[in-house]
Amino acid sequence: MTARDLGEQLTKYLTDVHSIELQALAQLERAPEIAGAERLADVFAGHLEETREQERLVRATLEGRGADTSTLKDIAGRVGGWAMIAFARLNPDTPGKLTAHAFSYEHMELAAYELLARAAERAGDRQVAEMARVIGGEEHAMAERLAACFDEAVEASLRAKDAHDLGAELVGYLRDAHAIEAQAVQLLATAPAIAGCDPLADVLRGHLEETREQQRLVDERLSAHGSGPSRLQSTGMRLGGLNIGAFFAAMPDTPVKLAGFSFAFEHLEIAAYELLRQVAERAGDPETVALSDRVLREERAAAERIAGTWDAAMDAALEHLGVASGT
Ligand SMILES: [Fe+2]
Ligand SMILES: [Fe+2]
Ligand SMILES: [Fe+2]
Repeated sequence: MTARDLGEQLTKYLTDVHSIELQALAQLERAPEIAGAERLADVFAGHLEETREQERLVRATLEGRGADTSTLKDIAGRVGGWAMIAFARLNPDTPGKLTAHAFSYEHMELAAYELLARAAERAGDRQVAEMARVIGGEEHAMAERLAACFDEAVEASLRAKDAHDLGAELVGYLRDAHAIEAQAVQLLATAPAIAGCDPLADVLRGHLEETREQQRLVDERLSAHGSGPSRLQSTGMRLGGLNIGAFFAAMPDTPVKLAGFSFAFEHLEIAAYELLRQVAERAGDPETVALSDRVLREERAAAERIAGTWDAAMDAALEHLGVASGT
């Protein structure tokens, strides 16, 4: 296969990150209103400025490659393949959920740029590789800033609800964690068969048993509070009705999209347990605090293992597309 094919594929990945940035802009414009806490609102406002510049840089790069960016605005949020449709459906309505959603979204952006950098390196395009590393670093820094805000995000959520019954609140956060683990089980049970990349499939398969155990432990805490999982599961933390298997199987570069999405998904879980931990501390439930700490360790390790497959995922996707790397 020719270098031209690889260049075209690189343009597709640039189009993907451009759509992701447009989606990010739409979300960040609304975020400060929902934030409910001054520092958190500032964090979002600052990243809105940064994101405008990222979008401009990516658009200029696309235009430099002769891509028609006038149509890009229309397709943002509909395609792009990063399951951002699913993320958009989360519709965060509280400061806590907003922060969780944004934390995960920044990790999806980080993954997209890390993968873009790998595609650029394989295409021998040092300028795009460098841009991807720089923007990826900014997304990572934003995610870190959000991670420092879980405390006040929970505080703002409880304040907004005028919540007095912390036990009832805790049950709500446990149900969120339960619902998200149910989604994780669905993702991990389906994904290995379609991953198209052995190292990625192995990592996802390996996390399935751990995930079932996490869900069981959350169940236990719900029982301890005399409750069960919500039958409606209208938690706002679920990826509404997404048929994960069919969605990713339909992608022309499944290994790459799945490797990026599952990394972001682990961070949605991390955010859910960060919030749960905060509420459990306030409610005086050390068992749930300990459970959160344990699961947080496991989710972080899983995310790291997924990131460790990005090179293999890019190679597998390019091979599948019949686009050989020049190196
Ligand atoms: Fe971002
Ligand atoms: Fe989990
Ligand atoms: Fe997980």
